[in-house]
Order: sequence, then C-alpha cells, then structure tokens
Amino acid sequence: MENSPTFFLLLPLVLIPVLASCAEKQAYIVYLGEHDGEKTLQEIEQNHHSYLLSVKETEEEARSSLLYSYKHSINGFAAVLTAYEAEKISHRDEVVSIYKSHPRKYSLHTTRSWEFAGVEEDKLKEDDKDNILVKAKYGRDVIAGLVDTGVWPEAKSFNDEGMGPVPAKWKGICQTGDQFNSSHCNKKLIGARYYIKGYEGYYGRLNRSKDYLSPRDREGHGTHTASTVGGRRVQNVSALGGFARGTASGGAPLVRVAIYKVCWAIPNKEMESTCFEEDMLAAIDDAIHDGVDLLSISIGAYDPSSPFTEDGIAIGALHAIKHKIVVSCSAGNSGPTPSTVVNAAPWIMTVGASSLDRKFLATVELGNGQKIHGETVTPYNLEKKLYPIVYAAQVINPDVPKNLSDQCMPGSLSPEKAKGKIVVCLRGNGTRVGKGGEVKRAGGIGYILGNSKANGDELTVDAHLLPATAVSHQNVMKIIEYINSTKNPTAYITPAKTVLQNITAPYMASFTSRGPSVVSPNILKPDITAPGLNVLAAWSEGSSPTMLDMDNRVVKYNILSGTSMACPHIGGSVALLKAIHPTWSSAAIRSALMTTAELRNNKGKPIADASGADADPFQFGSGHFRPSKAVDPGLVYDASHEDYIHYLCSIGVKLKNFGHKLKCPKNPPPPGNLNYPSVAIPKLKGTVVVKRTLTNVGSSKSVYFASVKPPAGISIKISPPILYFHHVGQKKSFTITVRAESEMKVGEIPKNKYSFGWLTWNDAQNIHNVRSPIAVELA
Ligand SMILES: *[C@@H]1O[C@H](CO)[C@@H](O)[C@H](O)[C@H]1NC(C)=O
Ligand SMILES: *[C@@H]1O[C@H](CO)[C@@H](O)[C@H](O)[C@H]1NC(C)=O
Ligand SMILES: *[C@@H]1O[C@H](CO)[C@@H](O)[C@H](O)[C@H]1NC(C)=O
Ligand SMILES: *[C@@H]1O[C@H](CO)[C@@H](O)[C@H](O)[C@H]1NC(C)=O
Ligand SMILES: *[C@@H]1O[C@H](CO)[C@@H](O)[C@H](O)[C@H]1NC(C)=O
Ligand SMILES: *[C@@H]1O[C@H](CO)[C@@H](O)[C@H](O)[C@H]1NC(C)=O
Ligand SMILES: *[C@@H]1O[C@H](CO)[C@@H](O)[C@H](O)[C@H]1NC(C)=O
Repeated sequence: MENSPTFFLLLPLVLIPVLASCAEKQAYIVYLGEHDGEKTLQEIEQNHHSYLLSVKETEEEARSSLLYSYKHSINGFAAVLTAYEAEKISHRDEVVSIYKSHPRKYSLHTTRSWEFAGVEEDKLKEDDKDNILVKAKYGRDVIAGLVDTGVWPEAKSFNDEGMGPVPAKWKGICQTGDQFNSSHCNKKLIGARYYIKGYEGYYGRLNRSKDYLSPRDREGHGTHTASTVGGRRVQNVSALGGFARGTASGGAPLVRVAIYKVCWAIPNKEMESTCFEEDMLAAIDDAIHDGVDLLSISIGAYDPSSPFTEDGIAIGALHAIKHKIVVSCSAGNSGPTPSTVVNAAPWIMTVGASSLDRKFLATVELGNGQKIHGETVTPYNLEKKLYPIVYAAQVINPDVPKNLSDQCMPGSLSPEKAKGKIVVCLRGNGTRVGKGGEVKRAGGIGYILGNSKANGDELTVDAHLLPATAVSHQNVMKIIEYINSTKNPTAYITPAKTVLQNITAPYMASFTSRGPSVVSPNILKPDITAPGLNVLAAWSEGSSPTMLDMDNRVVKYNILSGTSMACPHIGGSVALLKAIHPTWSSAAIRSALMTTAELRNNKGKPIADASGADADPFQFGSGHFRPSKAVDPGLVYDASHEDYIHYLCSIGVKLKNFGHKLKCPKNPPPPGNLNYPSVAIPKLKGTVVVKRTLTNVGSSKSVYFASVKPPAGISIKISPPILYFHHVGQKKSFTITVRAESEMKVGEIPKNKYSFGWLTWNDAQNIHNVRSPIAVELA
C-alpha cells in the first residue's frame, strides 16, 4: 500500500481549484540540493514558503501545509500537498527531486563482539601505545549521532562518571518531553532530540501510553544500537539471568552520544516502530549542524530500488559527508534473496551482519538417546525427565491451512492435543517468540524452533516465553523423523549455557541483505560485515525483551540479531578512527576499514554463509571488519563530495542547479570510475577499463606492487603494476582493464551471474595489504 509509486496527475490548468479541494493530500519531500550560502535562515524559510504560496490558495494554507523547512545543510522542505500541487512544484528549476513520504520499517533489521573484533580492553595496559583504544583515547573527543528510537538514559552505558567537559564544538540541545528532562543529558549523553511531524501527519497524534513524546526510547532498539557504538564499560552484566556474562562495552567507550529519535510505535500493533522520511531528514540536518562526527543509522529503506534522490537517508548522508561526517547504515535483513541490499548510496558505509564466536548451548535429548544441538537464551528449569514431544502439524486445530500447519500461528494449536508436551514448530510465517507464545497458550511445556530450509544452520537465539531452544534445518528434520519413527516420542531440553570455546566464526547471517544493488550496480554493496547475530547490549526498561504484549519481563540488557546490530559496530570503529585521524574524509575512513577487512574465519578458512558454503562479496563486501588494522591502512581510495555529485550525474540524475557552484558536467565520468575501494562491473561485454586513485597515508617513501586474483573467466590487467610514493598525501592513479576471456568454453561460466576476484596492493615490507574485491557479471 505504502509502496505505490509516486503518481502525478497531468491535467489542464483550469481544473486546479476543483482538484485541489478534492484530491488526497499527502506529505511530500521537496529536495532542492544545497544552499547557496548567501541567504539567512529566515530568507531560506521564506524561499520554501514561496513554493507553497505558488500552489496554495491562501497564505494561511501555505503556512499550515509546511511540516519542516530544512535550512542548515540540506536545502528543501516537507509539506502536505496534493498530487497536482506536487506536480506543479516539480517543474521548478531548483527542484532536484520531489517524492511522497513513506513509513519505513527498520531493520531489526556487547560483551563479546569487540573482543572478537580485536578491540580488546580486558587485557589492555594503559601504556600500550599500539592499541586502537589507547590511540583513540577511547573516542572521548568524538561525537556519535544515532538516528533511531531514542534512548533509555538511565542505562549504565550512558553514565558520565569521570568524563571531561563536552567538546566545545557541540551545538546540540537536550529536548525535554515525556519522562525526559534536561538532567537526563550529561557529559556522555550530550544531546537528545525528537522528530514526529511526519509520523503524526500519517497516523495522527501519538498514543502516549504506547511511546514517550520525548527522546526516551520505549522499544529498546535505539538504546541497543547507541550502547553498541559507545556504551561505557559496565562490569559483570548478562542478559536474562546469566547469559553472555561479562563486561559490556561499546566500541568507543568514551565517545559522546547524541540521540535523534525519529522512529515511533505503530498504533494498534504490538511493539513495532516506524520512521518517516521527513522526520529523518530533519534529524540529519540538525545533526550536521549540531556537530556530530559520525552517524549510525540502523533503519532500512522501504524498497531496494528507490533512487538515491528519493531516499531521506541517502540525501541526508550526502550532505553529512560534505562535513566529513561518516555515515554507516544497515544493509537490510532481506537475505538470502539477491539484490536486496538497501542504503546502497556510494557515500554511505553499508554494513552486513555475521556471527560471533559465542554460543548459547541448549541441547535436545531425544528418547532414543540422540543428542541434538540447540541454542537459546531462555532461562528455565525443567525437571530433568523425558516429556512427550509432538510435531506442530499433529496437534493443530482442523481449520488451519495445510501450508501453515507447522508454523504455530496464533490460535492454530489445539490445547487438548498440545498440553504438557514439547511442540516442534518451524520458522517462516510469524515471529520466533510469538510461535513460542502460541505453544504456551496451548499449554505446551516446551518448544523447539526449527529452521526452514532458507535459514540453514544459523541459529537466532531469543528470550522465549517458555523453555525452548532453536535447532538447524537438518536437525529439526532429524527430530521430526524420530517423532515419526516411534509411537511415544519423548525429549528433554537441557538448560542453556554460554560457550566460548572452539566456535567457528564469523559466518554470514542468512538474513543479511545481498548485493548487487539494484540502484547502483556499478558499486559493490554491501561494503563490510560486522557482528549482527545474537548481540548483547543495553535495553529499554519501557518494553520487554521480546517486545510482545504478552511478555511483561523488564530487562537492562537484551540479545538481538539484525543488520541493525552490525551497523553500530562500524559506527564505534569509525569513532576510534576519527579520533586517530581527525582530518580524514568520510571516504578515507571507509576505505581504511574496507581494504583491511578479513576474509577468513577464526579457524583460517574462508568465511562461509549460514549453510556452510563459501560466502561472497555480495554478502560481506570487502570482508569482516578489523578496526585495529584500519588504523594504518597504508593507502586509501579517497573521494570528495563533488565526486559523488558527478556520480549522481553519471547515473542520470539531472542537477540543473545543485546549490552554489555544483552542476552536472557535460560529460560526467562513467559511474564505475567513482574512486571506490571495490569494483563492480555489471553486464561485461568485451573490455572495460576502470580508473582508480590511491592516496598515501602510510610512510612517506613506499612502493606498492599489484597482485590480482581474477574472477573466473575474466582477465585483469593493472597498469602501472607498481606504484612509487615519495611523500604522505601523494596520489597515484592506475587503471584496471577487465576483459572477458574469449577462449572460454561455451557454458563454462554462466552468463548473468557474477564471479569474484581480488586486487591487492602490497608494500615491499608486506605490512600493508590494500585489498579490494572485484565483482564481474558477464553479459
Ligand atoms: C528530572 O527527572 C528526574 C526523575 O526522572 C528528577 O529526579 C529530576 O529532579 C528532574 N530534573 C529536573 C531539572 O526537573
Ligand atoms: C493507546 O494505547 C493503549 C495501550 O496499547 C490502548 O489501550 C489505547 O486504546 C490506545 N488509545 C488509543 C486512543 O488508541
Ligand atoms: C556478578 O553478578 C552475579 C549476580 O548478579 C553475582 O552472583 C556475581 O558474584 C558477580 N560477579 C562478580 C565478579 O562481581
Ligand atoms: C498458503 O496457501 C494459501 C492458499 O491455499 C495461499 O494464499 C498462501 O499464500 C499460502 N501461504 C504460504 C505461506 O505459502
Ligand atoms: C506468510 O508469509 C508470506 C511471505 O512473507 C506472505 O506472503 C503470506 O501472506 C504469509 N501468510 C500468512 C498466512 O500469514
Ligand atoms: C513424517 O511422516 C509424515 C507422514 O507420515 C511424512 O509426510 C513426513 O515426510 C515424515 N517426515 C519425516 C521428516 O520423516
Ligand atoms: C572443535 O570443533 C570442531 C567442529 O567445528 C570439532 O570437529 C573438533 O573436534 C572440536 N575440537 C575440540 C577441541 O572440541
């Protein structure tokens, strides 16, 4: 419904009055590019007002239709318009884009994760000059902006004990509201604001018993992501009565945190939030002005094919990077389907999700003695004996459709048949915790959640409402076979324990969205992967760990999965790198993280996907993040704001008047020549030559040698193959000639399918290995 394309009525002018009064009104974003730098804030607002005056009948109507006037960095406004009025405005020369606002889903979409990334604090000595945390002073001079569901300010992660004064450049505010006053901000949580006009325009007034009209986080998502980026060290924490016990810490424990609440509880739904374009744009415009150094945005786009100029996060980020603000975003949770990656603009750091080296073992013991691997973070204490076990399809009510018979949908189980038993349900439709809720409702004593085929071996742990464990697809099939094989099948679920030994990690989460990007196939996306499976972080005490109405537990920490959890790991890394390299551009910091990423797991084998097959760059981008390595990348692929504008021109965006000086050149460079740390070539026919430029950020005199592992069926030539640098900051360009092998046997390499290779620049000492993935699709 919300995804219908923008639709303009093209009607003769005489019809305006009639149409304007009966046509449906909706919020639109009118994006005008950049400010010319000569107008005062008042003049800017007047200019936006004049657009509305030109289509509305009265001054008053024009004034009341305006939702936001974006005045700081972004030039544009959000207003309630009819399709006809929008169409009229779209003809104005200054308009870069005009589009309808859409409600967004966000992509639910940490003790262990930072140690796993090589950012170890427990063993750290203060005089260890080589440690990234020490070098970055734990991020204390850096400001991280979080665009999310708000914050639970009482969480210990945000206490400011012992912290120095707020950085002088900070211009933000502490906006008060429901259960949030100025004393909730401190030297750690230095700013908090909220944006709700878009939400209220669509849903009506916020129901204040479902969410706080303030920066306070009702749901927990924003508290979780903010504490992952930069929560203080809190000792001896655990989730749900004992799991994952350890010291919780964000990536940059002394970073300053600024909260921009833009996502709000959806009315008449269980705890689930949505976020609106116009609210996000207002938040990002303010964040740029307030002085954040980075933005971490775990919000998914509604549609992987929406153009960058009709996407509030992409537009906001384009302005942010001009101010050297690094923007990292979640890649989305729509995997394993290909071409599902969102937030794929080349000025954004797009983050996929992978696993950690930690498990929460809860084995299933079957009546025949078989032990089946299961995982959970549900605390329980079942009396140790065998219980009857049933497959959901055996205990459903007669009216349940056949294709949902094993799904444990609400109301589907028969209490007469399920009572006192362990019930086996499959993933697919409905939530993982909700299925357990149905088993509980029907009087079941325990619950086994089996993966569907698509989920493979990846186990997502949850705080279930009854004794429960999750098992792989292969293992649930074994359990069902056993149930089939005997008259009185029985089982026991052993209580869970946290295990850290001998865990193969990372592997890619099955849910992590995949490339290639629909909008920008010339840019390899996602960029990188970070932990997003079973991540522990702080939580809101305004909701339950499962966010379900039937759950009334209150917890300070929660374990969640999603690319939402992966994105703030990159945010925390960026905070440390910004502290160490304050002058680096957003592109340079991204390049450092990408070219130093890891391709192997902790057992030295290639990173796999959830099914055990080798994963590829459309899942992990350049690899698994290694922030300590990124401190000293040797060389970076830099790019300027202007390069991105030219990129937009090259993919067909018409910029007649993009602010002050920028407009499209007559012949913009091809999109594949954007100076990106990876290479993607869709539909290769014959030969393509791609240009790249490296900047020396290592030692002044250095020599680098190209080494290539070409994709199957492709030849690659680097010219020149040796680069000599004489000083820091020096730039050297080279070309990559990519050719489809003519002597290839027909049918050897499938067409319309990507194959992958690598280009690495190694210095003579083999200290710096600047690696880029190359993805090529044969036409
Ligand atoms: C803010 O609220 C807290 C309770 O949450 C209260 O203790 C404190 O006095 C309030 N501060 C101000 C300045 O109103
Ligand atoms: C507001 O939310 C509460 C709790 O979910 C609900 O009981 C109430 O009916 C809602 N009010 C309105 C006006 O929708
Ligand atoms: C950690 O907390 C648990 C319970 O909250 C307590 O039993 C244990 O002694 C604590 N451990 C340390 C090292 O403080
Ligand atoms: C189940 O089958 C019905 C038709 O009988 C269909 O409409 C529905 O989409 C199917 N659901 C799933 C999950 O396949
Ligand atoms: C099950 O999920 C599929 C895909 O998400 C959806 O199309 C279908 O309508 C769902 N079926 C039910 C009965 O909820
Ligand atoms: C279990 O039995 C049912 C019917 O008897 C059959 O359709 C199904 O394939 C069996 N499942 C397994 C995993 O053996
Ligand atoms: C470690 O795990 C592997 C399987 O992943 C297993 O084959 C091996 O025996 C385990 N080693 C130890 C010491 O437990």
